[in-house]
Amino acid sequence: MSDALPVIVGITGASGVSIAKQTIDMLLESSTPTIVSASSAARIVWQEEMDESFGSALERWRDSDLFQYYPPQQITAPVASGSFPTRGMAIVPCSMATLAAIAHGMSDNLIRRCADVCMKERRPLTLMTRETPLSAIHLENMAKLANLGVKIMPPDPPFYLKLEYVEQIAEYFAHRVVSALGVTDTLPEHLQYRGPGNL
Ligand SMILES: Cc1cc2nc3c(=O)[nH]c(=O)nc-3n(C[C@H](O)[C@H](O)[C@H](O)COP(=O)(O)O)c2cc1C
Repeated sequence: MSDALPVIVGITGASGVSIAKQTIDMLLESSTPTIVSASSAARIVWQEEMDESFGSALERWRDSDLFQYYPPQQITAPVASGSFPTRGMAIVPCSMATLAAIAHGMSDNLIRRCADVCMKERRPLTLMTRETPLSAIHLENMAKLANLGVKIMPPDPPFYLKLEYVEQIAEYFAHRVVSALGVTDTLPEHLQYRGPGNL
């Protein structure tokens, strides 16, 4: 078992759940204790977008001692308390509903509560907000949280890398999330921008 503090990954019902899958895979591969919760909408989107079922992914992750899963209604989970130390949290992807709840302090499920705890305890919080187009309400909620130190990281593709497959774009964003959680600080070479010669 690792002595490192855990990170939290929340998965909500926005498009792009393969980024969550790759993020959790990477965290466990790098021996990072990882606590996960997925909303019921996230599971519906997962079914639409993924080949591996959410249940199979959970089973695979549970092979690791470093992995813990809590259902979103389990607000008694230790991680719901500010006295439970963590390195921070990422919500990947983050729906506009969850964004709005967090921006208004509505801790009505475990994912939203953990985000609220990160903010009150001044721990890193990253939201991979995904929707298009964005309404003024979405933008106001993002601006409000950005001004409070939350990292807003929409999964806008790095077109300059000329990635061919959606899975490569998801891999790129998973690396960005893992880096935002302070676990790594470099992108692998094939996902680095190498200047205009590359374009
Ligand atoms: C297939 C599918 C894709 C969706 N994509 C998005 C999305 O990209 N962004 C978003 O904000 N909501 C999206 N939604 C709607 C959310 O899932 C819905 O607002 C839900 O209540 C969010 O709940 P949660 O934040 O607790 O996960 C999608 C729903 C479905 C079924």
